[in-house]
Amino acid sequence: MSTTEIKKNVYWVGAVDWNIRDFHGYSTYKGSTYNAYLVMDEKIALFDTVKSNFKRDLIHQIYQVTDPKKIDYLIVNHVEMDHSGSLPEMMELIQPEKLICSPMAKKALLEHFHREDWPYEVVETGSTISLGKKTVQFLETRMLHWPDSMFSYIPEDKLLISSDAFGQHWATSERFDDEVESGELMAHAAKYYANILLIFSPIVQKLLATLQEMNLDIDMIAPDHGLIWRKSPETIIKAYDRWSKQETSDKAVIIYDTMWHSTEKMAKAICSGLVEAGISTVKIMHVRKNHRSDVMTEALNAKALIFGSPTLNNNMMPAMADVLTYMKGLRPKNRIGAAFGSYGWSGEAVKHINAVLEEMKIELIDGGVKIKNVPTHDTLKDCVELGRKIGQAMLAGQ
Ligand code: FEO
Repeated sequence: MSTTEIKKNVYWVGAVDWNIRDFHGYSTYKGSTYNAYLVMDEKIALFDTVKSNFKRDLIHQIYQVTDPKKIDYLIVNHVEMDHSGSLPEMMELIQPEKLICSPMAKKALLEHFHREDWPYEVVETGSTISLGKKTVQFLETRMLHWPDSMFSYIPEDKLLISSDAFGQHWATSERFDDEVESGELMAHAAKYYANILLIFSPIVQKLLATLQEMNLDIDMIAPDHGLIWRKSPETIIKAYDRWSKQETSDKAVIIYDTMWHSTEKMAKAICSGLVEAGISTVKIMHVRKNHRSDVMTEALNAKALIFGSPTLNNNMMPAMADVLTYMKGLRPKNRIGAAFGSYGWSGEAVKHINAVLEEMKIELIDGGVKIKNVPTHDTLKDCVELGRKIGQAMLAGQ
């Protein structure tokens, strides 16, 4: 992959990972990129590195612009290994004058690499360094999404280097938002938010307010993953505002597992009830045919989350427990829901799902519907009714 000059004397020197399909439990079915940026000035600065097995790509990219040994400052915006994995080799090769990072990043770097001898220079929110013609202002973004994370802003270029924030897991040869199809770009950005940042939504709200207070003039956002926002950085900022407010739409997601299609029939009947009530968008997702991270993406803007599982060994099916555990950790808010499921003799799945939904503070619209063995047209009416009830509650809440 060639390097790209994204602003005058600012270069993308990252790596494209076309083959990654699992990012610790998030399905990256179109790969990812590990973006690093090189700023050429009187002082040369490298912003972040790449995952360890891509260090050759990074070195190759830097050589297209300059000799890596000429780099003066290595700036660590984030310590997670997809950005710091090649740091030991890069420190050895570059021997920079300074390794610039946040206070929390210094701690995390010591805990990851155990190198007291590196030339750390700790910067905090408001710290500024001069590279010559360009300056870099730092903004700590603790818990977005690690305690060490920070943004770097270059005012002369109106460029925000945003670490993980505003990123997408998407391997492309294109580098900019205006070079790809916008619908697909936003779908990847939404998936990234739903699966990585949703839990930190209150902190995202505070960060967006801080950016507004600081009145930064931003005409480009360069994240550490995926495409760079050149044409419309405001599009992703507005989307983050919406997503972090946990705004939902007139949409329901029915998430289910099934053994012999009985719970599946119930899912379809609930869908009919929702549609009859006037709900325009309903998604039905089988948990063993849809990855948990895709379920989470659909849940991002859904007002109603409805879960169905047959009873297996006095509990819900294991794949349903997986999705619920994952979703609970990401803390969706302001949702309504219900549980349903068929059973053979004991039928505890609905009770166990309800207990998790209550822990997630999902407002239960109904105690749940259970059907013994195979549903009939008559017993399915209870499911249609459940769908209607949820649909009416959704519309009443608008
Ligand atoms: Fe892309 Fe938090 O690492």
